[in-house]
Amino acid sequence: MAIDGKVTGYSSMQVTLHWIVVVLVAFQFLAHDAIEESWRTSMRREPPPDTAVLTYLHVATGLLVLILALVRIYLRLTRGVPSPPEDEARLLQIAGEAVHGSIYVLLVLLPISGATAWFLGVQAAGDAHELLKNLLLAAIFFHIAGALFQHFVRRSQVLMRMFRPDRN
Ligand code: HEM
Ligand code: HEM
Repeated sequence: MAIDGKVTGYSSMQVTLHWIVVVLVAFQFLAHDAIEESWRTSMRREPPPDTAVLTYLHVATGLLVLILALVRIYLRLTRGVPSPPEDEARLLQIAGEAVHGSIYVLLVLLPISGATAWFLGVQAAGDAHELLKNLLLAAIFFHIAGALFQHFVRRSQVLMRMFRPDRN
């Protein structure tokens, strides 16, 4: 629904993409041993380990995250997103927006740094990838804490709007 040109909820597409990206990012964090092993052996110019499928799955899943993050940013800019709760302290509203913004930046930079390391063999990009993944983990921690805070402490509709899409 739109009030004064502003949307009051996320579309089904935005909600679906949010949860697909959550699953893909969780996979990247849970199944990274193969890519690390392949990366180590390729840097030492040793024969690749016997985990090619999982290695390529990390690369493919990461590139899919990049594409879906770009689609989400496009939808955010064209369709729009609901505003933070109006009765929320301005500082908390800004903190929430800042965490969302940081997550989008990291969802773009992580695959780019990973691809630069993997396809071009740039060691520094591999180091950046490791640092960026720690930043993403921290941002996700604050993001989940914020969502749970909104639901259980503030008792707002913020958590539910990522489950119940706006019909309009
Ligand atoms: C959002 C997407 C991605 C996430 C969340 C992610 C996450 C991770 C994680 C958690 C590690 C293990 C790092 C460590 O603990 O040492 C890793 C390593 C690695 N990833 Fe990704 N990755 C993503 C995308 C990609 C893409 C698209 C590529 C290549 C095209 C890639 C290439 C690599 C490489 C080469 C390593 C080993 C180097 C290193 O340890 O830094 N990643 N990634
Ligand atoms: C890999 C993990 C996650 C990532 C990368 C992620 C990313 C994001 C991003 C970028 C947004 C902003 C959407 C926009 O306004 O354009 C968002 C919104 C949201 N996320 Fe997540 N999220 C993750 C996990 C979760 C989890 C586990 C929960 C539930 C506990 C959650 C609940 C929400 C909610 C409720 C919103 C809407 C917030 C609002 O409208 O102010 N997210 N998420």
